Amino acid sequence: PNLTDMVCLHDFDWAAQNYLPALNYTYYRQAAGGEGSYRNNLEVFANYRFIPRQMQDVTTLNSTLPCVTMAALTSILGYNFSVPFFIAPASRAAYGHPKAEAGLVEAAGREGILYARSQFATLSIEEVHALKMPGQVLFQQFYRAPTLEEDQANLDEIAKVGAQAIMLTVDTQSYGSRIRGLRYGFDITENRGYRNTTWDYYKTLCNMTKLPIVLKGITNVYEARTAVANGVPAIYLSNHGGRQLETSPSALEVAHEIYLQAPEIFRQIEVYADGGVRYGSDILKLLAFGVRAVGLGRPFMFANVFGVDGVQRAIKLLKNEVSRDAANLGLADLKALNTSWIQTVQSAWV
Ligand code: FNR
Repeated sequence: PNLTDMVCLHDFDWAAQNYLPALNYTYYRQAAGGEGSYRNNLEVFANYRFIPRQMQDVTTLNSTLPCVTMAALTSILGYNFSVPFFIAPASRAAYGHPKAEAGLVEAAGREGILYARSQFATLSIEEVHALKMPGQVLFQQFYRAPTLEEDQANLDEIAKVGAQAIMLTVDTQSYGSRIRGLRYGFDITENRGYRNTTWDYYKTLCNMTKLPIVLKGITNVYEARTAVANGVPAIYLSNHGGRQLETSPSALEVAHEIYLQAPEIFRQIEVYADGGVRYGSDILKLLAFGVRAVGLGRPFMFANVFGVDGVQRAIKLLKNEVSRDAANLGLADLKALNTSWIQTVQSAWV
């Protein structure tokens, strides 16, 4: 297929499925167990409906959002980006394209969005950072290493290349039970073992680096509260794209739960979210609960099958959808989004 045939993010999944060897596609697509969390991530957005407002002046929004050189719309840990969505950390981009993560970091630079590099990226951290545009901000995802010495070495490298923040993934004590991937030999449990990320460890890690450490993989309001109490600068609601624990909740459900039980958290610290986001409207729903920025994993890995131009096209398509959807919602300023713009159709909490 041609890149110009790709008109929405799902098209890239379709293209990748038809183009990539089955093993490569499966590595990206796989999820845990019966893949209920994976499906729920996608489908849960339909349980939340917009309440569009008419007679609103949205001309400012229309003229700014799809442009590359737009004024910054989002700040993440104090860094400005063009839109409130970003490229989530995902490993092994070489399964999609020979230039691996180059397409991700370069497209993020062109479009002024955040890219968070996975610790298990194909390109080394030096190689990825060498591809930055002037002033481009990258975050670095982090997994606990078997020893603190290895953690220290990783942290030193992250600081040396100039990454601006660390996303410590806390939902991966073990590699998930990804049944689809087992058929292709993807099971690295024995290599990784089981490792907890406790609050003691978090504090130790904070003392080993000057960079802010975000917690990625929060799935309940209790941990969100505890994170605030422990001085965490930001939490990242995620069930790892449904790849870790089957039937773990979607970020949208967790955001809703936090909103009902501890809404102050959205003001106390920054909250990010990912999982199943495929449309501009999905992003707007997460923002409505107070989420600051929304990540996407698979869509950009599939778009990267076309290299940097593919990833850039995916970003542009999504920017365009956010812009159009906000306009039709009657929302001139994304920062004005709140829960008065959505209603729950069906939820475990009402
Ligand atoms: C991931 N994800 C992930 N997360 C992380 O913290 N470290 C990692 O190395 C990876 N690797 C990874 C590989 C692949 C192929 C995928 C699809 C995902 C999870 C990722 O950051 C994100 O949470 C999900 O991808 C979000 O769900 P969607 O957008 O893929 O539905």
